[in-house]
Amino acid sequence: MSDIHVVVLAAGKGTRMKSAVPKVLHRIAGRPLIGHVLASAHALAPATTTVVVGHQGSDVTEALSTQPGLSFVVQEPQLGTAHALLMAEPALAGRRGTVVLLSGDVPLLRPQTLHSLVDRHHATGAATTVLTAVVDRPTGYGRIVRSGGQIAGIVEEKDASEAEREIREINAGIYAFDLDGLFDAVRAIASENAQREYYLPDLVGIHRRAGRVVETLALGDPREILGINTRAELARLGALYRMTKNEQLMADGVTLTDPATTYVDADVVVGADTILEPGVSLERGTTVGRGCHIQDGAFIGSDTQLIAPVTIGRGAYVGTGTTVREDVPPDALAVSAGKQRNIDGWVSAKRARASRGRTK
Ligand code: UD1
Ligand code: CA
Repeated sequence: MSDIHVVVLAAGKGTRMKSAVPKVLHRIAGRPLIGHVLASAHALAPATTTVVVGHQGSDVTEALSTQPGLSFVVQEPQLGTAHALLMAEPALAGRRGTVVLLSGDVPLLRPQTLHSLVDRHHATGAATTVLTAVVDRPTGYGRIVRSGGQIAGIVEEKDASEAEREIREINAGIYAFDLDGLFDAVRAIASENAQREYYLPDLVGIHRRAGRVVETLALGDPREILGINTRAELARLGALYRMTKNEQLMADGVTLTDPATTYVDADVVVGADTILEPGVSLERGTTVGRGCHIQDGAFIGSDTQLIAPVTIGRGAYVGTGTTVREDVPPDALAVSAGKQRNIDGWVSAKRARASRGRTK
């Protein structure tokens, strides 16, 4: 098995979010978008993982600082996706194997899809394998141009002819590349196009003209490659994620009285025969034992543990990091650690005591 090297592009500005927070740090189910991408990538057991940051890059680096095994490279200025990948060259110097390129703003991509992409790539011995999907509304995406069934190139929306815009097979922006010769080919990409950017999809045409094999993997469910550019898309993909998560919980034996109003974050584990009533929120990292009952509108803060089989009453609030062993009455606040107390002047009083001690 050859090594897998994951590269995540996350340098873009995300202008349409209209936010002081970098796009990839906006959250779905309590986890930053880029956290979802890295969680999927983790399933490939990559030898290296490189994140390309740029716009507010230090915020992104800081937010991911507790995740082991990540390298960060900076792209400044941001001259396009091909230029972004080139920034990862030093991080991959002397390496061999397969590069899997991901976007930091495509959070629903399933690990199984990445496995299939890599399998196809290895089985065909391709230089590049492109993940594609056939969609009803291809607007905004790069279109897959085929000739005799084979992929011939990818044309961006802004550069496409009217006929090319009719193509409904789109580039997901996710690829597997043979690392051997990759960066030399990427350097051959020019920026003579409508956006004056270095387009990574141009690599396909370059490889094809050089007689190298380029393959595609077409996705059955295009929803998982949806990217996020706006707050509306953030909400829509958040709802999709929640629906999938809730269906999984029910398949695992949890009762959800009203899945549409049940908010269970990523990294939450719920035991079988637990009942979640409408309007319940379980924040990230929480563990709920078997046979618990969480009533209407109860809110369970992050990293909490409910030891089976407790009942959390209607509208109750369980603070972050609490370990709950006994029932919580309706509308009560449950906390197990003491609340933060700020004692004014404590340090100066201590210093004063110490200096009195010395002068005595
Ligand atoms: C890209 C593809 C398009 C594809 C679509 C899928 C190009 C030129 N086009 O378009 O064919 O259908 O993705 O979603 O690649 N980024 C950087 N540095 C840059 C530019 C972008 O890191 O200089 C990052 C962005 O943060 C983002 C990713 O690359 O995570 C994709 O960039 P974006 O500008 O969103 O590309 P699209 O126009 O969506
Ligand atoms: Ca874009």
